[in-house]
Amino acid sequence: MSRIIVLVDMDCFYAQVEQRDQPSLWGKPVGVLQYSANGQSGLIAVSYEARPFGVKRGMTAKQCKELCPDIEICLVPQGEHADKADIQKYRDASSEVFAVLGSVDPRITLERASVDEAFMDCTVYVESRVSGEDREEIINRLLHPSCLPTSFIVDGEEEQEKDNEIDHDIADEDTRNKEKEERKESKRRRKIEEFIEKCRYDDECLKIALAAEFAERLREKVKEKTQFYCSAGVGNNKMMAKLVCAAHKPRKQSFVPPGSEMGVLRRTSITSIRGLGGKLGMALMERFRVNTMGELSSLPIAVLSNEFPTHVDWLKKIMRGEDDEPVKARTVQTSIGVGKNFPGKLAISTTVEARFWLEGLTKELVKRLTDDRVRNRRMAQNIIVHLTTDVSTSKTVRVGAADEKDDRLLEKLWPVMLSMRKGPTEGVWNPPIFNISLSAGRFLDGLPSKENSIVGWMEKRTRELEQMEGSSSKEILSGDAALDEKRRLEREAEGDEREWEGEEVTCMGVPTIVEEDEDCLIVEE
Ligand code: CTP
Ligand code: CA
Ligand code: CA
Repeated sequence: MSRIIVLVDMDCFYAQVEQRDQPSLWGKPVGVLQYSANGQSGLIAVSYEARPFGVKRGMTAKQCKELCPDIEICLVPQGEHADKADIQKYRDASSEVFAVLGSVDPRITLERASVDEAFMDCTVYVESRVSGEDREEIINRLLHPSCLPTSFIVDGEEEQEKDNEIDHDIADEDTRNKEKEERKESKRRRKIEEFIEKCRYDDECLKIALAAEFAERLREKVKEKTQFYCSAGVGNNKMMAKLVCAAHKPRKQSFVPPGSEMGVLRRTSITSIRGLGGKLGMALMERFRVNTMGELSSLPIAVLSNEFPTHVDWLKKIMRGEDDEPVKARTVQTSIGVGKNFPGKLAISTTVEARFWLEGLTKELVKRLTDDRVRNRRMAQNIIVHLTTDVSTSKTVRVGAADEKDDRLLEKLWPVMLSMRKGPTEGVWNPPIFNISLSAGRFLDGLPSKENSIVGWMEKRTRELEQMEGSSSKEILSGDAALDEKRRLEREAEGDEREWEGEEVTCMGVPTIVEEDEDCLIVEE
């Protein structure tokens, strides 16, 4: 069955949160810097005004000042524990966005893919519009110049269409640039109009066009309610929607005409495909010395299936532009994690240090879990302790309601962590630890009745959230149907135990694309 999927991704999200906090920063080059007490600091978000200077994520304040002296640096607030940054304000901003996305139409399935990104399955929504509305009226509306003002068609033909028309009679560079912009705009419009004409007799095209119109309105609504700009991609599956969303950023959207999927993929680099951004993509590129999906597709299938037998079926589909991963209705994270890296000389080599950092991380985790409990009225059942020494190991600990307090949880986690210590010498941790992470998961809906110790705090936080998100989020969260749906989701999510940034957990040959969990995104490198 053909589907219509929209991916919404916020533009330079954390930078926009800072710009909204300090409106004088709108329109200026802005970098969001995460500072760490061990002296490592780096940018985690860069506004589009700073990007032409070459400023990139990961750079230090010094590096970006050299490239862009006027850049305004905003610091991520420091957290209380374990030298962690406090990203609560970005999470709150994310909730505001999701409250808007979740309130638009009950026929749309919404999946939170990361802190600033959501998939929306619009199939039912557009199909009911196609069958319920007058086609002539739709077409006339879509053809109006005010419709689809920021939409681009991505069909793989772009390279050949490069603008070569330089008018040498015009000496003034500004005028030349202006004319170039105008040519680009009229080309964009022409392609859109040609596509809309096709919609007269092609339902698949019409559905995509209606989804693009929907995405334009949705982005306007997000802007109106939150002040944030975003971009979107529209395609017939998650992979295509995600891929083309990045084609025209920021503040724009792109869609793939039905049938152009393979054309789009031809020149796409392997690592920009959802599911191939990690180890599998790198392995394919290195093994076959290929860079693009086109090159990958030209390899004989027998070769692929010889060397990547567990992945070949999934790869064959992806190379055809097919991806049947469903949009899973969920607006909450399936795991909440905290972690810290101890690179090089900072590696932990004593039990005392190990316990010190575990304590800090446990406190931070409890803080996040408490916040999650208020927002989502649920409790974690599992906590995974993950250590990286010369190898990576993890152990899962069952936890109950009573454990969600710093000291109780620490006493539960510490023996587990100790049991992962290999060295024979008391007090020494050898081989040393490069990373400690804790990840809470398998959430169970509902709260135990005796929650006295945090009731006051919870009520305060609930009021804050309600004020911030307005009534729309309350509507979504209340009502039995919503609750049932939420239970179903949590059950579905129970299988997802490990969710780390960008990492791909391979199971049965299909790379499971794990949520970009913001709590893990900012693990200090
Ligand atoms: N983020 C992070 N650490 C990373 C990746 C992302 O903290 N390794 C945060 C960023 O601060 C960012 C947000 O998650 O603002 C969303 O990430 P992403 O969508 O990849 O980038 P944006 O900054 O939103 O920029 P773009 O406009 O290119 O999407
Ligand atoms: Ca983004
Ligand atoms: Ca994103």
